[in-house]
Amino acid sequence: MSFIIIAPPIPTEKWKKEFELIAPEISLIIGPETDRPEDVVCAMVWKQEPGILTQFKNLKLIFSMGAGVDHVLFDPSIPKHIPICRVVDPQMAFSMSNYITLAVLNHHRSFYDFQRAKEKKHWAQFEIVERDLKIGVLGVGFLGMDVAKKLHALEFSVLGYSNTPKETPFPSYSGDELDAFLSQINVLICVVPFTPKTKGLLNYSLFKKLAHPTYLINVSRGSIQVEKDILRALDEGLLNGAFLDVFEQEPLPKESPLWSHPEVQITPHIASLTFPKQSVYQVLDCFDRVKKGLPLPQEVDRKKMY
Ligand code: GLV
Repeated sequence: MSFIIIAPPIPTEKWKKEFELIAPEISLIIGPETDRPEDVVCAMVWKQEPGILTQFKNLKLIFSMGAGVDHVLFDPSIPKHIPICRVVDPQMAFSMSNYITLAVLNHHRSFYDFQRAKEKKHWAQFEIVERDLKIGVLGVGFLGMDVAKKLHALEFSVLGYSNTPKETPFPSYSGDELDAFLSQINVLICVVPFTPKTKGLLNYSLFKKLAHPTYLINVSRGSIQVEKDILRALDEGLLNGAFLDVFEQEPLPKESPLWSHPEVQITPHIASLTFPKQSVYQVLDCFDRVKKGLPLPQEVDRKKMY
């Protein structure tokens, strides 16, 4: 019986080390090559090559090594009967919320204007006021709820939107109330999963529905945003800035105009980190539950795609 890690773009040494410490009895393969594919019962994956899992005929669990599962679900060869679980980690939520809070506070206190003033050695003390923010969190799932609660606790005015109604300590919208939600906010935080429904969701027609100008923060997936529409909305004043961690193409190509836009902040898909130790405990727990036929709280709903 073996577990396999197939995660071409990320270093796996820490995962290996944690497995050796926490579960030394498990035979761990750093994949994808193995001469005993029939021994593999659990595959931990990140951006695996489509079709690569079909060789494991005795697979019982697929575990996404991040919060997102689009890399698994967009692979049509994944057998339907195998449960897919994902990382659901409060530590990840903590770091994601802190990243977003940083973006919000920088915008709120016009931090980039001060940076520009500093470059000119300009003492711009009285010129800039705090912005009056109405923050909308698009996608109040595990991570979105954490950030919304954190910003709400900081006494910002927060609204949430999710597919299905959620119980929240702040006003929240769902289903066909998207336009009503959008029309009120001047900071949009996108935390939705990438599904066929959310592909290209952050586009010009959505930006027109916001209370203008709006500040955009996207930490979910680049395929959810239309970058030429972001640039157009910035030019036209529908958006007054963007803080982007994800891009249509990653790494963001050097020729992208986003790099040099004065109102765009860029980070290289690092808003939330996967913590190997927590994740190893979670894989082991999920696998144990599969063996015992117990419910899997971290299981992905294939229909909803999250
Ligand atoms: C990162 O993008 C993740 O899905 O965990």
